[in-house]
Amino acid sequence: MSEIHQILPAAHAGPLSDADLETLYAYPDPGTAPYVAVNFVSSADGAVEVEGRSAGLSTAPDRTVLRLGTDLADVVLVAAGTATAEGFTGVHPDERMADRRRRSGLAEVPVTAVVTSSGRSLDPSSPVLTDTLVPTVVLTCAAVDDDLQKRWTDAGADVVLTGDAAVDLDAAVAELGRRGLHRVNCMGGPALFGGLAGAGLVDELRLTVAPFLVSGEAGRIARGATLDPARLELLSVVTGDDTLLVRYRVAAAS
Ligand SMILES: NC(=O)c1ccc[n+]([C@@H]2O[C@H](COP(=O)([O-])OP(=O)(O)OC[C@H]3O[C@@H](n4cnc5c(N)ncnc54)[C@H](OP(=O)(O)O)[C@@H]3O)[C@@H](O)[C@H]2O)c1
Repeated sequence: MSEIHQILPAAHAGPLSDADLETLYAYPDPGTAPYVAVNFVSSADGAVEVEGRSAGLSTAPDRTVLRLGTDLADVVLVAAGTATAEGFTGVHPDERMADRRRRSGLAEVPVTAVVTSSGRSLDPSSPVLTDTLVPTVVLTCAAVDDDLQKRWTDAGADVVLTGDAAVDLDAAVAELGRRGLHRVNCMGGPALFGGLAGAGLVDELRLTVAPFLVSGEAGRIARGATLDPARLELLSVVTGDDTLLVRYRVAAAS
């Protein structure tokens, strides 16, 4: 593993151990509502994908903190489009993750929750539904065809309806909380991030600025309705392998 150094807070500047990273990337103690941390890697010029996937932008430190987010989470939240584009499966803990989860008093396996309004981006044979150790939650809405809902259920999913024509993200996140899934590790993509940010549901942005220039037509990390600029508070900055790993707290809407 390449060395990761902390820059900010400066009091702890210097190389980080696994335990230091674990402390830095821990979720706050669960409050009444879920805590939503959203992860993205972006090229230095703002691209969110290369050839339709994020892998071409990722570096070893990015993968380290991304894994940490899942290792310490109750639920991985992902848009159906991203789950499909990125070939998501359910989470399969390795020894390190199992150990971290035991030490943190977390369930053995984090749940995966997939968001789709139309159902079009989530094929019932998708590995995010079928290759999983615990049932994946499908957060969808009443407009989705009954037959498709049944095929998701037959594939092992737990289908949750919030909203009529589109997913009601407020209700969807509240439903995660109702199930005791408070530490939410959101893996994007940009449409889901835009939707969550617009609804005031994002607590933290974990942004990797990767050392690549790609130009081209790739989108950026959020898309959707324009927001009144939401103020971000810098929580930490670490660096390794020419990569900047930044955590921002999203201020509550006033
Ligand atoms: N660089 C990174 O860190 C990173 C991270 C994640 C994704 N990506 C990239 O982003 C691209 C995919 O992005 P995308 O533009 O398709 O966005 P996306 O956020 O993955 O959304 C795609 C689909 O997910 C569902 N969805 C998203 N937001 C929703 C909401 N608020 N309510 C209900 N359903 C919602 C919709 O599915 P239905 O159409 O089925 O309703 C939507 O069409 C891929 O190229 C992926 O590699 C990059």
